[in-house]
Amino acid sequence: MSDKLKAEVGRAVCQHVKSGMRLGIGTGSTAEAFVHALAEKVDQGLQIVGVPTSERTANLCEELGIPLTTLEETPELDLTIDGADEIDPEFSLIKGGGGALLREKIVAAASKTMYVIADESKLVDKLGAFALPIEVNSFGLAATRLAIKKNARNFDLQDTINIRMVEDKVFISDGGHCILDASFGLIHNAHALDMALLSIPGVVQHGLFINMAVKVFVAGKNGVKILEREK
Ligand code: A5P
Repeated sequence: MSDKLKAEVGRAVCQHVKSGMRLGIGTGSTAEAFVHALAEKVDQGLQIVGVPTSERTANLCEELGIPLTTLEETPELDLTIDGADEIDPEFSLIKGGGGALLREKIVAAASKTMYVIADESKLVDKLGAFALPIEVNSFGLAATRLAIKKNARNFDLQDTINIRMVEDKVFISDGGHCILDASFGLIHNAHALDMALLSIPGVVQHGLFINMAVKVFVAGKNGVKILEREK
């Protein structure tokens, strides 16, 4: 997605942020465009507090003067705004391309509502072309990976699972965990897969976000469209 579209969707979603709101602030390049738009509004007097979903987002917010809080101080939030890697017609999401999925899910779950910001390329009929990020404890990594592979076969999914690397080092999340990127292919039963993955003890969390997003702000060549989930 071009920087111009990211900036447009970041500004559009900002129109829905009201003074007094407690916000969850997402991670990734689209979320960063939103943070820049939010900082302008804060400069103009908008009063909000935000819980960042990663150290990277926290640093940017601090740099731009956005007031931050924590879920310890503010355990209930009004709205989380975040990007996504894929969005299906029911607004189920794949997230975690930026490696922040655990904090993103904790923050979204603590929020009354979640809005997703993206461009048209993120809209898919079925999830799964994007490899599903799975955050795992480094203890027993090979056993956890094998359990995920067996699960994939039970669900008739492909079982190519790669540990995420950054250059030649294993990527470590803000929570101190590793990420396995699971190239499952198209996921036909996201709800059941969600439960099955969480039942593996070494799995900390995964990037399927089901029944969380309520609106999707989609940037395209004709401007930003707001899609609402059917109840
Ligand atoms: C971060 O861990 C992710 O969940 C991001 O929200 C997702 O990868 C989208 O990122 P971009 O906005 O950079 O495409």
